[in-house]
Order: sequence, then structure tokens, then C-alpha cells
Amino acid sequence: MKILTFWTLLSLIFCINTKAASDLTPDYLRCEYLENPFIDEKKPRLSWILKSEVRNQYQTAYRILVASKVELLEPGKADLWDSKKTIGDITSQVVYQGKPLKSRQKCYWKVQSWDKKGQAGKWSDWATWEMGLLEEDDWKSQWIGKDFSANTQPIPYKNKELFLPPSPILRKKIALANKVAKARLYVTSLGLYEYKINGKKVGVDFLAPGWTDYNKRLYYNVYDVTQQLGQGEHVLQATLSPGWYSGYIGYALLIGNPVVRAFYENTPALKAQLEVTFTNGETAIFTTNEQWKAATGGLIESDILHGETFDARKVPEGWSQANFNDEHWDDASIINAGKRNLQLYPAQPVQVTDVIEPIEIHKRENGDYIFDMGQNFAGLVKLKVKGKAGDKVVLKFGEMLHPDGRLMDENLRMARATDTYILKGDPEGEEWTPAFTYHGFQYVQVSGFPDKPTKGNITGLVLGSNTPRVGHFETDHPMVNQLYQNIVWTQRANFVDIPTDCPQRDERMGWTGDAQTYAGTAAINMDVSAFFTKWIQDLHDAQWEYGAYPDYAPAPPVRSTDTYAPGWMEAGIINPYEQFKAYGDTRIIETGWENMEKFMAFHYKKSKGAYFYPEGSFADLNPKGGYGDWLSIGKKTPPDMLATMYYGHVASLMAEMADAIGKPERAMHFQNLAKKIKTAFAAHYLNEENLRLKTDATAYGDGAGYVDGQMGFSGNTQTAYANAIFLDFLDDNQKHIAGNHLAQLIHENDGKLATGFLGAKQLLPALSATGHSDLAYQLLLNEEYPSWGFEIKNGATTIWERWDSYVKDNPEKMASLNNGMNSFSHYAFGSVFEWMFHNMAGIKADEVAYKTFTIAPEIPKEEINYVAASHQSIHGNISSSWKKVGEKLFMKVSIPVNTQATLFIPAKSELDITMDKKRLDQHENLQRGHFFEGKQVLKLGSGTYQFESIIK
Ligand code: BGC
Repeated sequence: MKILTFWTLLSLIFCINTKAASDLTPDYLRCEYLENPFIDEKKPRLSWILKSEVRNQYQTAYRILVASKVELLEPGKADLWDSKKTIGDITSQVVYQGKPLKSRQKCYWKVQSWDKKGQAGKWSDWATWEMGLLEEDDWKSQWIGKDFSANTQPIPYKNKELFLPPSPILRKKIALANKVAKARLYVTSLGLYEYKINGKKVGVDFLAPGWTDYNKRLYYNVYDVTQQLGQGEHVLQATLSPGWYSGYIGYALLIGNPVVRAFYENTPALKAQLEVTFTNGETAIFTTNEQWKAATGGLIESDILHGETFDARKVPEGWSQANFNDEHWDDASIINAGKRNLQLYPAQPVQVTDVIEPIEIHKRENGDYIFDMGQNFAGLVKLKVKGKAGDKVVLKFGEMLHPDGRLMDENLRMARATDTYILKGDPEGEEWTPAFTYHGFQYVQVSGFPDKPTKGNITGLVLGSNTPRVGHFETDHPMVNQLYQNIVWTQRANFVDIPTDCPQRDERMGWTGDAQTYAGTAAINMDVSAFFTKWIQDLHDAQWEYGAYPDYAPAPPVRSTDTYAPGWMEAGIINPYEQFKAYGDTRIIETGWENMEKFMAFHYKKSKGAYFYPEGSFADLNPKGGYGDWLSIGKKTPPDMLATMYYGHVASLMAEMADAIGKPERAMHFQNLAKKIKTAFAAHYLNEENLRLKTDATAYGDGAGYVDGQMGFSGNTQTAYANAIFLDFLDDNQKHIAGNHLAQLIHENDGKLATGFLGAKQLLPALSATGHSDLAYQLLLNEEYPSWGFEIKNGATTIWERWDSYVKDNPEKMASLNNGMNSFSHYAFGSVFEWMFHNMAGIKADEVAYKTFTIAPEIPKEEINYVAASHQSIHGNISSSWKKVGEKLFMKVSIPVNTQATLFIPAKSELDITMDKKRLDQHENLQRGHFFEGKQVLKLGSGTYQFESIIK
């Protein structure tokens, strides 16, 4: 017998060990929803997703190590936190429970999971987070700036005037005596900033530090600038721009509001500190203070809505170099900006997320050129030009062309949306990208270009909050595919620090109604966890003292009558709820709980404790009733009926959220409230005999003062039924009959939809829920006005604000349409995607964060034979696809590790189904439910599975 050597023995043991150990591996480690972030949350939440090749795999325990140095990231050494082996299947929202975290502390962490058999998997790779400045006195810097507005002449513009002061530039030379081991820049501004070191921009962010109620909180950013600093002299530079703080906001100018700009304060200011640790262990801190110098440079006008003018001749030659003499510059002014609540920006910043090349250039008779970018988007262009000093290139942005080829700019209203570059005459050519503005556009009109431009002279830069893409959707239907692309593009164009209504005209505000209706779709397409963490705070900050949430957040007084509106104000409850649902986020509920309770109390008071709103309850608003089913077609759904349903709806959401944060009495209270509202609703708005929804239309008189009030009001509308069904206001029998009423209304309307902002999302799901899936598909595929397909037939590359925003080749109709409110990039109607994902692909969360979910695709009889969708949830990637070939249906699904799905497989009979080529009854341990109404129910754990069935 051969004697085993020590080494063979060892490798044998090792081999056995590897076999025995689990392949379960944590991956994609995140802290507060971000990868390796800077944060200021003292109890950060950690998450990971799990990888394993084993089916039905799940986690039974985990262990997290957190250490102050990567070398200490070992069991027994981790100095900040060792969670020890903790039993449980939780992989997200795991709250750090280690030593208190200090300012500037860098934390290294990793995690290990145990699988369903109790076997340990491998440790994950390590990840980090780093704490920002947690204490007020960590900030040693002062607010600096320079007010140049006094000698600014107003510019006449569209019968009004614009006031666009030049941007201050700020400068400070520093010297570093040693080699740099670590350097951090902590920076914020009132207004927008661009910070450079030796002429090179720090970071890649735009529009920083974002828009908040600056009087309540102001965000700062942190950058690792170690690589940008060596021993020797350096120049710290900053440019400031008014931004949302002191620039123009919304339609204030249009409507003649007494204040049109500088809603917060007039003078932008910078606060920054550069903290350096040298290799010898010494530290230095370079603050903003009175030793900085200030001047104006090339940026002579700058505003988010109106664009920028840059005169390259005015840039002080060499100001980014250490040997530049700034003695003749003014000293920077110390700005008295009061006490500010400084917090670290909690989301992905606005960045360039894509680059777009023009597809065509048209020459206009007057010598201008119009560049067609081929896609409507939000962002900027980079200009490349060669010419003489003083040549002036003017770029004007628009989303559409008139049929005669002119750039359409009426729909921008008072937004000048124009960038101007004045050349310095560099023989090598010049390049320029604006820094503090953005536009919503597909076309760029170029005037004054020195010679004939080519496509290479303009590059489109897509800007938006850099939320990771987590959704995909495709079919074999080109129009539906285009619709999906349009939805995604519209989201990208409007998720710019806050969820805006539109990116082009003089508005771009965080309209709450739009955001609440779109939140579900948003979270399927992109990881908006951090984005909405930020905006939900903006919402609470903007809550009125009397409890209502506003029309838009942040909410400077752009128009004094913009107060609150049913269906808009409920964003204060719906958006936190959507965040909870998508990510299992209970902290967002806890931090907003008091605000949300206050809102519910407002509802109670406003409804006089009657649990419903009779007609005319919101006649005190302007417009009366609020915005109602905004941009619907035909008779209006009574805003008070919708208000009642929204009141009941948010009461139910509050009950669910109360439960989730361990408040059983409040949960009970809100459940009862929801019940009472539903009963009161039915008593007032439901005709008991024929189960039609009704209203007393006479209560609205001639409708004057109500949005589209002249159309008259009816309870018997598509939007009324769609909401009553979708928001669960009816019992099963009533629901069924309401579904028939809804279907009948659509038939009477020539098979077309008539819904607005408060009905478009609910319509198709309500049809599907009541057995009218065929009609839902018909509405989706319709290409006649009004429909999603109509937009696409007319060339849309984004979702329009109105169902008839544009009619190709119909100049007459166009002339009547292009009024002041016609955005081509408005995501609200894109909320139909919820139905596409939930019903066409069939993926619906059961428990929050897709811990358990259903896959139940609705297969249409015709026109669509293939659908594939996926969503990277906080638990990992879920996918569902199906393909119909003759009488056969092929399905493929993926279920992430540590989750479970309930699958509904359409088939003639259970014997007509195979899974991975074997009949279902031949699979051992398969959790088969019943075969019911042509569908086989299966419960599946993680893995990828293929099915084949006969469906005809
Ligand atoms: C915005 C909308 C918003 C609305 C209120 C509009 O001007 O663009 O999307 O919700 O006003 O009805």
C-alpha cells in the first residue's frame, strides 16, 4: 500500500473541504445603497446579493466584519464590528452595530454567508465606506464669494428682462511641503460650484450640490483628491453659478410672480476644505477664507433655465497656474450665510451618463444650421470650433421642429435655453462645454458658426442623476420596444437631482403628482433607492405647516397659489411607501413617520371627519379641486371623488407601513380609517343599484375655475373605475361589474383611452384585474389618438406631456397645438410600464423588495409572441421571458438566491408542461400547486428554469 505523503494528504483534506464548503458568495456590497461611498449616516445599512450555482439556495446565517484597516479584516481582528455568526436570511438593510463612527473614518467590510445546509460560503471581497464631517466644528472654512450683480445690466427678453450676473471665480495658491498620502476635498456651495485643482475639475459631477430647501439642509460633496496633489505648489480654483439658489426657477417669470429669481438669496457662496495627510503622518487643512482672491472670468451669464454665455477672451490667462499673479484681484468676500445644516449628499450625483453624436445637419435659409441628435434627452453639448477671436456661436435648443423645419421654441415658454460661446481665436481650435445649465432637446440650432459645421463639431452629453440601470424589457413588437425606450429616456431626462416634470421649459420642478404616479415604474427601470432617499427628504422639508404636502418639492414660492392638490399631495405617503416596497426600506418610514401622521391629520381635518370628500370640497384651491385627472380627455372625473380615493389609499398604505415599523395600534387605526373611507365613498359615489360610479355634477356649476371644468363632470369615467378597481375600493363582485362598466366605456369611446395623470397608470391593471386583458393589450397597441402608439407613430423618442403633443405633417393641427404647455419629455404617462412589467412579463413582488414574488405573464391572443424582462432587485436579478410558437409556449425564469417565486404557467393541462425537458410529475421535490383556470401553479426557489407547454 502506498503511503500517502503529507502533501497529498493535505491536498486531499483541502479538496474535501472545498467540496464540503458552500459556493454561496456575497457580492455587490453596498452601504446606504451606494458602492464604497462617503456617507454621514452614523448607523449605516449594509446590503449584498448572493451568488450560487445551487438551485433553491438561500442564506441561513451571515457574519459581517468591519475594520479600520484592511489588514484587520479577519475574524478575531476586526476592530470596529464583528456581527458574529447571525442566524437569518436578511441580506439588505442590515444596520451597522459596531463601535461609534467618527468623522473621516474609513471602514473596510466584508461578509460571509451560510447556505441552506448550514455550510459556510466564502468571504466576499472587501468594500469600504468613509465617514464625512459629522460634527459642526469639523468645518473650519468660511463662506466666500463675490457679488457682481450690482453692475449687471438687465437683458431684454420676450417683452420682459433677464438678470444674469457674471459668475465669480475664486482662487488660492497653496504649497504642500511633503508627499501626500491622502487628500479629501469637502465642498459645498449656495448656488452651484465647479471646483478645480490646477485647472482640472475635481470629480465628474454636475449641478452640485443639488437642490434642497437650503434653509433647512444643504448638501456637501466629498472627493478623494489624493491623485491630484503632489508635493509642491497648487492652485485651488472655483467658479460659482446662481443655480436654484439665486437663479431663475420655474414659471415665476411667465406668470409675473413678484419674485422670479433668487428665491433663497442673491449671492452664491462657496465653502470648501481640503484636508491633506502627508506620508510623514502630518496633516494640513486648506479652508476657504479671506485669503482667497476673487474676480470674474469667461462665464458672463449662467442660469439653469436660460443657459450660459462664455467669453473665452475674458478668461484670465494662466489663472490655473501657480505663477499667476492675482494681486490685482479683489479679496474674496466673506459671505454671511448664517448657520446651515450641512449634510453629505446621499445619492448618486448628476453626471454625464452617455454621449450622443448628431445624426444629421440641416442648413436653414438664414445661414443657421440645425443639428438633429436623433434622440430627445436632457443634457448639454460639447462644442468644437475654430475661428477668430470674438466670433460668436449661439446654440439654441429645442425638442421638435415645425413642419417647415424651424426650431420649435414656443413650448420652452420663458426658458431662453441658449448657450453662447465667444471665441478667443486659438489657431488650434477651441472646445467648450457649459457647466451650470442643462436643456431638454433633440435639436440644436447653431448660429454664427465660423464656417460650415460638421457632425464632429457638436457632441451631445446626456446628463442625469447617475442611478444604475436595473431593468430591461423587450418584445417582438417594434412599437412596444420603442415605447419602452421612450419611457427610459424620459426617466433619464427628468431624474436630475430631483424628479422633475420636464427638462426643457421654464418649469423643471419636482411636481409631486407626477412623481407619485411614476415611482413604481422608476424603481423597476433604475435603482432609485438613494435618489428617492434624497427627494423624500425634500418632500418632508416642503410639507406645509398645516400638514399638506405641496404641489412640488423643493417648494420655493414660485406662485403663491401653488399650495396642495389631491393626488399630488399624497406623494408624501406614496413615495416613501414605494421606497419601502421596492427596497424593504423601513428607515424611510421611521424618519418620515411624524410628517406622514401630520399629513393624515390634515386629511381628517380637511374632510371634516366625514371620511369622504363631497363635491366642491376643494373649491378653495386654485385651480378649484386641484389638478384632478390632469390632461384627461372628455368629461372630467370629479376631483373630490379622486380625493376620497386617494385619502383611503394612503390610509391603507399607512396601515401597512405602521405594521412594518412595529406600530400595531397605528396599523389598526389606519386600517379602520381606510375601511370607513371606503364605506363612505361607496355611500356617496356608488350607485347601489347598477354599481355605476356617480356624482352630483350640478355641484360644480358651469365648471368655471376647475381644470377643464367646461367639459362637465361625471362619475362614470374610465379614470373613476380604473382607480376604484386598482385602489381596492370595491368588493369582488363590485369590482367585476366595475370592470365591465370600464370595458363598456372604452368600447363606447371607439376602443380608446381617455385617462389623464391620475388614471393612465391604473387603467390597464384595472382591466387585467377584471378579466379584460385583451382590452388592456388593445389600448397598449393602439396607434390612433389618444394612445402611446400615436406618439410613436408621430416620431416620439420620449413620452409626451399630452396625448396629442405633435401631429406629424399636419401644420394646421400643429398651429393649434403648440401652446405654452407642451412638453415632449414628461414621464407621467410612462407609468403604463408598471403594467407592462407586472402583466406582460408577469413579475410582481409579493413581499417587499421581491423577497417573494409572482411570475404570471398574461399571454395575449395575437400580435405579441415574445416578451422578455428582467429586474436587478436588491436581492439579485429576476427575469421572466416567454415565447409563443404555434401552440407551444416557452418560458424561462430566473429567481435570485435567497428568494422564492410563485409561478403561473399557462397550459392546456398539467400534463402538457415540461420543466427542463421533463414532465412536472417526473421532478422530485417540486412544490406543485393546483392547476386552475388554465394555469399550473409552482413554487420555486432560486435558479434558472425553462418550461415548455401546449397552450391551445
Ligand atoms: C406640470 C405637471 C404638473 C402640473 C400640475 C404642470 O405644469 O408640468 O406635470 O403636475 O403642472 O398639474
